[in-house]
Amino acid sequence: MTEAKSAGTATLTVDGKTVELPVLAGTDGPNVIDVRRLYAETGMFTYDPSYTSTASCDSELTYIDGEVGILRHGGYSIEDLAEKSSFLEVCYLLLHKELPNKADLEDFQDTITNHTMIHEQLRNLYSGFRRDAHPMAVMIGVVGAMSAFYHDSTDINDPQQRLIACHRLIAKMPTIAAWAYKYSVGQPFMYPRNDMSYAGNFLRMTFGVPAEEYELSPAIEKAMDRIFILHADHEQNASTSTVRLASSSGANPFACIAAGIATLWGPAHGGANQAVLEMLDQIGDKKNIPEFLERAKDKDDPFRLMGFGHRVYKNYDPRAGVLKQSADEVLEELGARNDPLLELAMELEKIALEDEYFAERKLFPNVDFYSGIILKAIGFPTEMFTVLFALARTVGWIAQWKEMIEDPAQRIGRPRQLFLGQTEREYVPVDKR
Ligand code: CMC
Repeated sequence: MTEAKSAGTATLTVDGKTVELPVLAGTDGPNVIDVRRLYAETGMFTYDPSYTSTASCDSELTYIDGEVGILRHGGYSIEDLAEKSSFLEVCYLLLHKELPNKADLEDFQDTITNHTMIHEQLRNLYSGFRRDAHPMAVMIGVVGAMSAFYHDSTDINDPQQRLIACHRLIAKMPTIAAWAYKYSVGQPFMYPRNDMSYAGNFLRMTFGVPAEEYELSPAIEKAMDRIFILHADHEQNASTSTVRLASSSGANPFACIAAGIATLWGPAHGGANQAVLEMLDQIGDKKNIPEFLERAKDKDDPFRLMGFGHRVYKNYDPRAGVLKQSADEVLEELGARNDPLLELAMELEKIALEDEYFAERKLFPNVDFYSGIILKAIGFPTEMFTVLFALARTVGWIAQWKEMIEDPAQRIGRPRQLFLGQTEREYVPVDKR
């Protein structure tokens, strides 16, 4: 890991005491005030409940400039990666922090495409779920259960075992995700095929049936791969931070990824792509847009414009830009250019962007605004949208996990709190309360 450079000090005066806090510079982005010794020197903590101003770790994987709308992995812009690269190449980049050469890429592709089957016993787990279980619930269960199956890749102190755990997760996630779908529709599970691309194999396992050959559309295969690239990693978001925190105790890597999946499920995070479609359904018609915009602005109404806003991007989500273009291409391929849902989404985007409330708060469409539209056009039911996000984000989670475990300075994560509960009081027996 590159060492952070010193960028001077910050002076803090508190209770008449002055302390000098080191300021550290990364290779890009804002400097940070190093408060690690603050408690020892002042007896005080910093307070930042939803981490709006807190860098929780060092990382070399992903850089975001939310003010400008930049997302880079290993220094490469997301636009370049989406256009010129492939998902497995991006996976390699995240795991090894460099793009592979041709031979390395071929090796990596072989490793992943040859480990796509899951333990046959894991298959039985699916039938323990109700058919109407949300596929994210199934994902949490099955990925969590991987921790009981692959004992030869859970010694986190062994670099080879760590790498095997990474490969297993990336390779098997499409099978686990496709089977979650198959189970929900009561169709037979399709086994993976090693001669297909990562995205193609996933599409076949999801939409194919044993009764006939699956016809793969190269345009849809490409769009799927691009969606995976766009979701691969996003620095220290809620699910990634969950994976890091869970892993910081030395826990089983598969169990930690299940924790990440659980966090991603929420509508403020990965669950937003499903919520966007549900919202568009709820709005129903262009003429209802103004009414829903008013509801989104009303603080007494829980309705929010799903697919709008981002904790970090305050100008433009670069992933949304790429996806908007992809949405056009996919709808063209599927002959669904005049899809009323897309028209409604475009109108909603236009009106919201012109609205003072959204402009003032710098609320722009995020990645989830467009991904749902493309995924629906491809034929995925809305419940599967967040599953696809989880499939693609697995590489980000496991690469961040690997980076953290390989950092010699790594210790268990343990935030502190501002206590606002009762001070000490005497216990009163129940009959006297
Ligand atoms: N609709 C209406 N108002 C909004 C929205 C929205 N989607 N997002 C934020 N606001 C308002 C919010 O009410 C607040 O207003 P005020 O300053 O008057 O109190 C202001 O904008 C700032 O919002 P915030 O809640 O402090 O922002 P945050 O950084 O805590 O939340 C967010 C970010 C993504 C959770 C939020 O924008 C949101 O809930 N968006 C909808 C859900 C969504 O699309 N999530 C996907 C995020 S991208 C994929 C991913 O990374 O998982």
